[in-house]
Amino acid sequence: MDTKDTGKSFAERAMADRLSLVPFSGIRKVFDKVKELEAAGKDVIHWQIGRPDFDTPEHIKAAAAAALKRGEVHYAPNLGIPALRKAIGARTTIDTGVPVDGEKQTCVMAGANEAILVSMLAFINPGDEVLVPDPNWHHYKSCASMAGGIPVEVPVRLEDGFSMSPDEVEKRITPRTKMLCLTSPANPTGCVESAENLKALADIARRHDLVVLADEIYSRIYYGERNYAPSFYSVPGMPERTVIINGFSKTYAMDGWRLGWTVASEEMTRAILKVRQYTTVCVNTFIQYGAAEALSADQSCVDQMVGEFSKRRTVMLDGLAKIPGVKVAEPKGAFYVFPDIRSFGKSSAQVADYLLNEHHIACVAGSVFGPSGEGHLRLAYSCSTEECRKGVDRLRTALSALK
Ligand SMILES: Cc1ncc(COP(=O)(O)O)c(C=O)c1O
Repeated sequence: MDTKDTGKSFAERAMADRLSLVPFSGIRKVFDKVKELEAAGKDVIHWQIGRPDFDTPEHIKAAAAAALKRGEVHYAPNLGIPALRKAIGARTTIDTGVPVDGEKQTCVMAGANEAILVSMLAFINPGDEVLVPDPNWHHYKSCASMAGGIPVEVPVRLEDGFSMSPDEVEKRITPRTKMLCLTSPANPTGCVESAENLKALADIARRHDLVVLADEIYSRIYYGERNYAPSFYSVPGMPERTVIINGFSKTYAMDGWRLGWTVASEEMTRAILKVRQYTTVCVNTFIQYGAAEALSADQSCVDQMVGEFSKRRTVMLDGLAKIPGVKVAEPKGAFYVFPDIRSFGKSSAQVADYLLNEHHIACVAGSVFGPSGEGHLRLAYSCSTEECRKGVDRLRTALSALK
């Protein structure tokens, strides 16, 4: 058909309707602008990207390189190589206190993001409602929509430390509610749900027979007393209805490797496997050996990285505390702080654009993460401590000028 008949190009006519439900990433737009500024010789503060600035530890790279040299270059099992699944099972058992059979209950994925999409396709029917925190990591909403589900946002607020209120969840339950997505520690807020709150949310999940998608990708980047944030999986009765989403990107500085995993009951894992067989089939075989080494070897590299994030967090919080008009809820995990900048009388997108264009501070407008993110900025302190220090000084100057 010719374009003249519909007024639409061929590509527009060809596109599936579901694409109208999902936006392009608001974060990627900032990346493009940063590249442009850097090409023009500007010194940019990199608070836009949620990935560690460290290199992947040497022993992990060496294990992957050795596997490649050895000829581990053919298809792996759909669920992942046994050594890696066993290591994921053992690690999850240590972190959550719940025995996990790695061979039967885990699936290795091309990043946590693939794990989210596959889980939605495995458990969401068209018309099912999926509760997501607002603000949120956008993949829950977009992947739920692509599976035919209907995302329903549950607002979380700075006044509550961005914790998910069981009352707010309960208010949004309908006969179509199928899944609750939880992120703890959270992106973009850094909130860590307390064990008590997880229990209250678990009670709702049990009463309404919900599947819980517990995204724990930041669990080991936790500034509390233990080295793993409280897990939804540890709440009695929850392992049968929970899919843990986790991965290597943040904990081991392996974001470019594209490796993540799910942990779920044996039966739920079989459902995940079914979808998995028709997506990427399996993850690159030789990199899985590097990942198995990451989980099984001495974990001091993780402690060192978390120690560095902790220093940066202090620099950010001290710096933000000195800027009049900025309110902050102390992040307890991940590497994000989500200050409230409403007192400056502009939208979060206007402030983020101003900071980037006039002061070369790259961050993401809170509205990108959902309607309740409006009035906030997401600052990712995953760049060097020095850059964070320089950044908070520059931010103080920039925001003071805005007042
Ligand atoms: C909450 C959350 N889940 C999942 C992901 C995706 O991680 P991966 O690199 O493993 O796909 C991210 C990445 O920023 C994230 O913040």
